[in-house]
Amino acid sequence: MNWQTFPSSDALSDHAARLLLDAIQNDPRIVLGLPTGRTPVGMYDRVVGECSREYRCFRDVATFNLDEYAGVPRDHPGSYYTYMKRHLFDHVDIDPKNAHIPDGMAPDLDAECARYEREIAAAGGIDLTFLGLGRNGHIGFNEPGTPFDSRTRVVELTPSTRAANAEFFPDGEVPARAITMGIGTILESRAIVLLAAGAGKREAIERLRSENADESFPASALWKHGDVTVLAERR
Ligand code: GLP
Repeated sequence: MNWQTFPSSDALSDHAARLLLDAIQNDPRIVLGLPTGRTPVGMYDRVVGECSREYRCFRDVATFNLDEYAGVPRDHPGSYYTYMKRHLFDHVDIDPKNAHIPDGMAPDLDAECARYEREIAAAGGIDLTFLGLGRNGHIGFNEPGTPFDSRTRVVELTPSTRAANAEFFPDGEVPARAITMGIGTILESRAIVLLAAGAGKREAIERLRSENADESFPASALWKHGDVTVLAERR
């Protein structure tokens, strides 16, 4: 695991955006895994800034989001679909049919998870996945105890994860379930960049740094992968 620390979340976002843009420049047909949450917002802002100037950077790129809430309509302000449109997709030239997000409103959620796995396979697998880090070590919505060989599936969100995301559901209806890529799915990405910044992450970052792979701490699965870069904010 390659660790890089940054004095501020701005410096971290600058570097993350550079990694993303360089990856597209090296392979304009790259398949990306993309996260949501507060941490990657600065990265997306910078990517959008550069790409509106360079124009066409996403023309042949395909993306797969890590997760989506179940039972939340796409146009709900708290959905990850809305998040991705607002922070990235509405501002770059990605072809909407190449921008994949699990459909949390699908009538058969298990079938939707299987379909998502098939779409990833049909795209040739994911080349580079960016991840955020939950305070309890979750990646995507893979909560502590998730088997490291898990695939895309429906999960129950823990009370702490629901509390951490409650501000995005001011009506109080914080979703109880989500679709997430599994840890096994994530580990198949050829390269992974984990962004670890923000309030309340210090403990999780320290635990990740010190710990061997252990299912009680999902992010530690990354120790099993040969090409992981962790960008951590020094707080
Ligand atoms: C959510 C997302 C994760 C994300 C995590 C951390 O639970 N499903 O993919 O990494 O939150 O979010 P934040 O960056 O807002 O701390």
